[in-house]
Amino acid sequence: MNAQLSPTPDPFFQFKQAQKQGWAHFSPLEAVTIPQAPRLIRHARVRAGDRVLDVGCGTGVVSITAARLGAHATGLDLTPELLQRARENARISEVAVEFHEGDAEALPFADSSFDVVLSQFGHIFAPRPEIAIAEMLRVLKPGGTIAFSTWPPDFYVGRSFALGSKYLPPPPDVPSPILWGDPNVIRTRLGSKVKDIAFHSARMDVPVLSVQLHRTNIERTVGSLVKLVEVLSASDPAKLEQLRREGEALAAEYLEDNLLRQDYLMTRATKI
Ligand SMILES: C[S@@+](CC[C@H](N)C(=O)[O-])C[C@H]1O[C@@H](n2cnc3c(N)ncnc32)[C@H](O)[C@@H]1O
Repeated sequence: MNAQLSPTPDPFFQFKQAQKQGWAHFSPLEAVTIPQAPRLIRHARVRAGDRVLDVGCGTGVVSITAARLGAHATGLDLTPELLQRARENARISEVAVEFHEGDAEALPFADSSFDVVLSQFGHIFAPRPEIAIAEMLRVLKPGGTIAFSTWPPDFYVGRSFALGSKYLPPPPDVPSPILWGDPNVIRTRLGSKVKDIAFHSARMDVPVLSVQLHRTNIERTVGSLVKLVEVLSASDPAKLEQLRREGEALAAEYLEDNLLRQDYLMTRATKI
């Protein structure tokens, strides 16, 4: 075999395998991300007939919403269990969406294949942000729109991630996904290949009956937390209990009238 044709070994293979296992149980949380999908689609100004890519599509909430509006939608995700659900969701919704199992850092599409590239809380989990964003911009046509939803560090989800990292730090060469919620970092990562960067603050209110129930639900569904609980329950149960109490106290700060306030950020830019 020609050595030049063999794929480059992925140094983050193990990290992505762990992500894949962690995210396998995310489906119930689509109830929370479904209402956010049309907001990102509006922010990105998706029109009928656009070729749209949804990176880290999970159960397909963004790509299926785009397809219902008449876009030619494609979804890509690392996690086969979620793609299975995405295909089922599209079938029942009677829309055609192409779903691919794959990695945001190695998109299996030709240059300039899409009019719009979107990611709703998805691409932020790729361990090398500069590679993921380069890939997303590569498959976007010049003049096309890139748009994504991310978690700022100063609000509930951002602070929860920071709390988790305090108990189990990520590998030293993997930056926190929460950096994607900082407009200055976003500007730097988008770099000189885009123009007209626009930000929009958004907020979702998640029904929560108690902080304990919320904690139990996210421990079962949010990929990074699933893994964290798995590691700490085996290595240091007392530390896990401490994390749980701190997590519940943090959630209590944002809970009012059984709604947990989660602020996020939407970004849009045009490829030059
Ligand atoms: C919080 S979920 C969001 C799913 C969906 N976009 C939504 O809004 O419901 C994060 C998703 O990113 C996916 N993911 C994580 N790392 C990825 C990677 N390197 N490439 C592609 N998808 C990835 C996970 O499998 C998961 O489906």
